[in-house]
Amino acid sequence: MPAFTPRDLPLQDLHIVLGVTGSISCYKAADLASKLRQAGAAVEVVMTPAAAQFISPLTFRSLTGRDVIVDMFQAAEAEAHVEVARRADAMVIAPATADCLASLAHGLAGDMVALTALATRAPILLAPAMDNHMWEHPATQENVLTLRERGVAFVGPMEGRLASGRTGAGRLAEVPQIIGALRQLLGQRTGDLRGRHIVVSAGGTHEPLDPVRFIGNRSSGRMGFAIAEAARDRGAFVTLVAGPVALETPWGIQRVDIQTVAEMLVALEQATADSDAIIMAAAPADFRPAHPADHKIKKAPDQSSLTIELAQNPDIIASLPGGGVRVGFAAETRNLADYARQKLPAKRLHFIVANDVSAPGSGFGTETNQVVIFHDDGRVEEFPLLSKYAVAHLILDRVRERLQPQS
Ligand code: PMT
Repeated sequence: MPAFTPRDLPLQDLHIVLGVTGSISCYKAADLASKLRQAGAAVEVVMTPAAAQFISPLTFRSLTGRDVIVDMFQAAEAEAHVEVARRADAMVIAPATADCLASLAHGLAGDMVALTALATRAPILLAPAMDNHMWEHPATQENVLTLRERGVAFVGPMEGRLASGRTGAGRLAEVPQIIGALRQLLGQRTGDLRGRHIVVSAGGTHEPLDPVRFIGNRSSGRMGFAIAEAARDRGAFVTLVAGPVALETPWGIQRVDIQTVAEMLVALEQATADSDAIIMAAAPADFRPAHPADHKIKKAPDQSSLTIELAQNPDIIASLPGGGVRVGFAAETRNLADYARQKLPAKRLHFIVANDVSAPGSGFGTETNQVVIFHDDGRVEEFPLLSKYAVAHLILDRVRERLQPQS
C-alpha cells in the first residue's frame, strides 16, 4: 500500500476567524462555528456588541473552545486586536449586516469585526443578512460592488421569508452553503487545480419502461459528488453531470441533471469539449428497455410473466473522444482485478478505480469506499477503507500528475 495521509476533513489545520454582527440570524452562526470545527478548522470568534445582544459569547466559547472577543479594549492578549487578524487563514463574517458592509467598504474599524477585517490579509467571505429593502438600497449595493472589486467574496443573501415577515433577498445563506463557499474561496487562492476544468459524472440512470416505471440501480451519487467537492476545494471549475440522486448541489459546482444514458452522453460530450479531466463515477445502465411503452403497462388478469426486450446502451466513456485525463471506475462483485484490467484499454483510460461493491462499507450508498487503482502503465495501488472524500483526493492527486501543462 502506498504511503499517504488521508485527507478526510476539508478544513483540516486551518485557522478560521468567524466574525458575527448583529442580526436575528445570529443563532445560525452558532451552528456554523460548530460545523467549521467539525470540518477540522480552529475557529476563533469575534463579535460586535450588537451581535452579543442576540447571542451570548459564551455559546461560541463553548462551541469553539476559544475565548471570544467582543470589546477590543478588553482583549486578554497584548495586541490581540490585530493578532486575531494575523492568525487567520480566512475570515468569514456571518451574518454580515448592512452596517458591517458599510464599515468594511469604507475601511472603518469601529468594532472588533470591522477592525479584524481591515487588519487581515487573509481572504474574506461575507454572508449578508438583512431586511430586503436594506439589501437593495443603492448605498448597500455600492458597498457590495466596492468590496467585490477588492476581492471580497460573497455567499447570499438568499431569497425567502425574512424576520419581518416579508419575502425577498436578505436571508442568511444556509450553513452548508457558507462552508462550501469558504472551501471554494480557499481552493481558488491556493488549490493545485486552479484554472482546471474537471468533469465528474455521478449517480445511476433511469431507463424508462413506461411513463411511470424505469430500470435503475443503487448508486446514490455520493462518490461522484465527493470527487466534485474535492476538485472544487482544490480550485478547479467543476461540471457535475448527475443522474437522479437525492443530493443537494454543492456550492460553486455547475450541475447538469440527466435521467438516461442517452442524456448523460450528450451532457458529457458538451462538458468535456474543453475539460482537463473526466472522472466517470456514475453507474450508467448497460441496457435500456428496447421499446418503452407510451402508456402505463397494464397487467392482464391471467398474466403470470412479462418479457422485456433490452437494447444495449452506448458505452459513454468509450464514446467520448477526449476530455483530458480519463478516469473510469469498475464496480465489481468478483474478479475485481481481471475485470478492471480489461476495462482500462477498452475505455481508453489513464487509470481505473476499482471497488468491490459487495464488500462491507464499499460501493453503492455508503459514506466510505475501499478502492484499488489500476494504471495504464501497469502500476497497481491498493488502499484501505476510507471516506469517499479521502478517496476523491487520492484520485485527484493522480489526475494532477497526468495533467497537460496549462497554456
Ligand atoms: O454513487 P454511490 O452510491 O456513491 O456509489 C459509487 C459507485 C459504486 C457507483 C462508484 O464507486 C462506481 O463504481 N461507479 C462505476 C459504476 C459502473 O457503472 O461501473 P462499470 O464497471 O459497470 O463501468 C465501468 C466504467 O464505465 C465506469 O466508469 C462507468 O461510469 C462507465 N460506463 C458504464 C456503462 C456505460 N454505458 N457507460 C459508461 O461510461
